[in-house]
Amino acid sequence: MTTSLCAQSAQSASAQNDWVERGKKVLMQTYATQPMVLTEGKGSYVEDVDGKRYLDFASGIAVNSLGHCHPAYVEALTKQLSKLSHCSNLYYNQPAIELAEKLVAISNSSFDRAFFCNSGAEAVEGALKLSRKYAKKHKGESCTKILTMSNSFHGRTYGALSATAQTKYQEGYSPLVPDFTVVEFNNIDSILSNDLDAVAAIIIEPVQGEGGVHLVDSSFLKEVRALCDKHKIVLIFDEIQCGVGRSGYFFASESFAVSPDIVALAKGLGGGFPIGAILAKESIASAFNAGDHGSTFGGNPMAASAALACVNIIGNEQFLASVKSKSELLVAAVVDLKSKCPSIKAIRGLGLMLGVEFDLPVKPIIQQCAAQGLLLVGAGEKVVRLLPPLTVSADEIKEAVGILANVLAVQ
Ligand SMILES: Cc1ncc(COP(=O)(O)O)c(C=O)c1O
Repeated sequence: MTTSLCAQSAQSASAQNDWVERGKKVLMQTYATQPMVLTEGKGSYVEDVDGKRYLDFASGIAVNSLGHCHPAYVEALTKQLSKLSHCSNLYYNQPAIELAEKLVAISNSSFDRAFFCNSGAEAVEGALKLSRKYAKKHKGESCTKILTMSNSFHGRTYGALSATAQTKYQEGYSPLVPDFTVVEFNNIDSILSNDLDAVAAIIIEPVQGEGGVHLVDSSFLKEVRALCDKHKIVLIFDEIQCGVGRSGYFFASESFAVSPDIVALAKGLGGGFPIGAILAKESIASAFNAGDHGSTFGGNPMAASAALACVNIIGNEQFLASVKSKSELLVAAVVDLKSKCPSIKAIRGLGLMLGVEFDLPVKPIIQQCAAQGLLLVGAGEKVVRLLPPLTVSADEIKEAVGILANVLAVQ
């Protein structure tokens, strides 16, 4: 018996619904998950369980830096899987050493050592712990205060959540970790109003992602750097979202010409395989001794191989130049869209991390784009983030902005 095309599509639509219903029953309802079940991806496209294709400008929230199933990435992971998947940090493994060497080399001596973990929040935890250890050693036991920027986002674990200056993420979880003080992003006076000799660390996202894609002022950053030097304060950059090539530079800090003492990386570092990292100068890193910090899975051979495959490609100057030129294309197309669409209020961003602010809630825009085959991410109520894979093509950028234009025309 042959099934008509209509009947086939009704069948597959219910396949997706079935999976969604099953997921809703057994997964904790912590996410506002869209009713879509993704099954595979290739390059800048993903496919759902019904076979519908989407242009992926979400990249798993800035994670799939090389797109989906990049051949070098697949090869690196496949090879490693048949050699050694895990051995713990009781022993060295080669991919972790090579990855640390590569990151240190790319940093051009800004950092000397790496610590690997499994996520962004865990990288932030490591950075906070290392800076408090350092401060206690060099500034005294009572020096524990950490300054964090208004509107920031650093993750969901207790330390990272305490550093996150958005109360909506903190509600219901008090008491938080003590001694975090919120200062105003891009306002040096707000920092100066603290007793800086009692401050252990200052943590900053050079580009705030979850907060709506806001860039730090480079003059502010330079003043912060000078204050940190003067008062022996550890300067931490959270580049979990904006780092590893997304800004058009390997480290976003390079575009502001200010180097931190510790940088936290994750997301795009592993290209889809979970890994986080902190990199630090020797003078800071040496505050950690054996047993002071750790992670069973941190930098395991699989995660390190995945990250090494990404970093080998993204750390290349030509690749970074291509990110910058694709960023220009994307910005020009979105600026053109803004000229035709009065509900777009602002366009902000760096490299392939773009925020488009509307004067209306963006949830329906994101849903309609998905219906028309384009995945985007929100940031708060009124900002849409465009976070394509760093390997995105000029044609794909055109296609994405075309879909967004279509959707906006019918708003
Ligand atoms: C700037 C920043 N820091 C930390 C995190 C937390 O990372 P993860 O979700 O991997 O724990 C995120 C995640 O969105 C982030 O954007």
